[in-house]
Amino acid sequence: MLILIPGGCGFIGSSLAIYLKQKIKNSVVITVDNLSRNTSYLNQKKLKNYNIKNFKLNLASNNCLKKLKNIKKKINLIIDCCAEPSVELSKKNSKLVFDSNLRSTLNLLEIAKINNSKIIYLSTSRVYSINKINNLFKNISFKTRLKKKIKINEKFSKESPVSFYGFTKLSSENLIKEYSYLYNIKYLINRFGVVSGYGQFGKQDQGFISMWLWRHINRIPITYQGYGGYGNQIRDILDINDLCSLIEEQISKISKINNHTFNVGGGSTNAISLKELTKYCENITKNKIKFKKKIKTSNYDLRYYITDNKKIYSNYKWRVVKKLNTIINETFQSLIKNKKALKKLL
Ligand SMILES: NC(=O)c1ccc[n+]([C@@H]2O[C@H](COP(=O)([O-])OP(=O)(O)OC[C@H]3O[C@@H](n4cnc5c(N)ncnc54)[C@H](O)[C@@H]3O)[C@@H](O)[C@H]2O)c1
Repeated sequence: MLILIPGGCGFIGSSLAIYLKQKIKNSVVITVDNLSRNTSYLNQKKLKNYNIKNFKLNLASNNCLKKLKNIKKKINLIIDCCAEPSVELSKKNSKLVFDSNLRSTLNLLEIAKINNSKIIYLSTSRVYSINKINNLFKNISFKTRLKKKIKINEKFSKESPVSFYGFTKLSSENLIKEYSYLYNIKYLINRFGVVSGYGQFGKQDQGFISMWLWRHINRIPITYQGYGGYGNQIRDILDINDLCSLIEEQISKISKINNHTFNVGGGSTNAISLKELTKYCENITKNKIKFKKKIKTSNYDLRYYITDNKKIYSNYKWRVVKKLNTIINETFQSLIKNKKALKKLL
């Protein structure tokens, strides 16, 4: 089986490439990544050790389409991990985000059409309505919010605004469905919440668990931003290994279970507020750092997000295995292991 992983030098793409190469017998895995994320160079090096070749191409370009069309072997499966995944950046550089997130999907669908490839798309919880999520908790105290643990399922409103990032991801989902309808392409769409774990080298608004740890390791101050600056925003965290094992299961069943969209996340047992994350980081690193407060809330920020995993469980009996403690610990281990190289990059 030939598996193409666009965005394959990113955190999720490279982890998946290595995991699947090891787990699926006789699989050939290739990646396409323009290394626009500076830490992707490190992952490209790692992929080489597993004999996984990366084609350094901009997936939004016509040139890339030409080059991919020249691959002589049939591409059986495309796992689309290509994106500029920063929600905040999508405000400032919408052209770049449009190209990397949506135009790239269009090019990949052209490749899928020629090869009759199946496609697994990595989407996001950010396709859901910002206002509708935030209004769920508007007049509820932080304590009650935690107790209620309201979960978001696939039917939740996708009414705009969803952020420009969310818009490009939702549009990619719709493009995939159109191609599937016209050309009988089998697809799966997974809307992930926050993913973290071994190998994540994150930034403030993309990969905040590893960024929090990194700042603690290096004693760099952090700002609690928005909703009063108390650090009360809540997210549920999914481990990269749990994500990889789900995709492996989905690949093995894709002829039977296809053309579905799933929410996938850490769920209520892996939910954490920023303030609680600080405590974890202090315990692991034994460092206490300065926290600043920025009261103003970004118009793209969510108070809260916890995934409803019912649909994914009922289709695959898939459950979260790794708990918060382990995820945070393993993220810490990988930052320490790569500390020297990361000093120049983060
Ligand atoms: N990490 C998360 O918490 C999370 C949550 C939900 C969804 N997702 C989705 O999962 C996917 C992977 O996310 P990630 O965390 O690994 O991000 P990442 O930034 O680590 O990886 C994305 C990769 O895509 C590459 N890329 C970007 N634009 C490109 C282009 N035009 N041409 C070629 N390569 C390009 C980058 O160089 C990078 O290596 C994304 O589609 C993202 O939207 C991630």
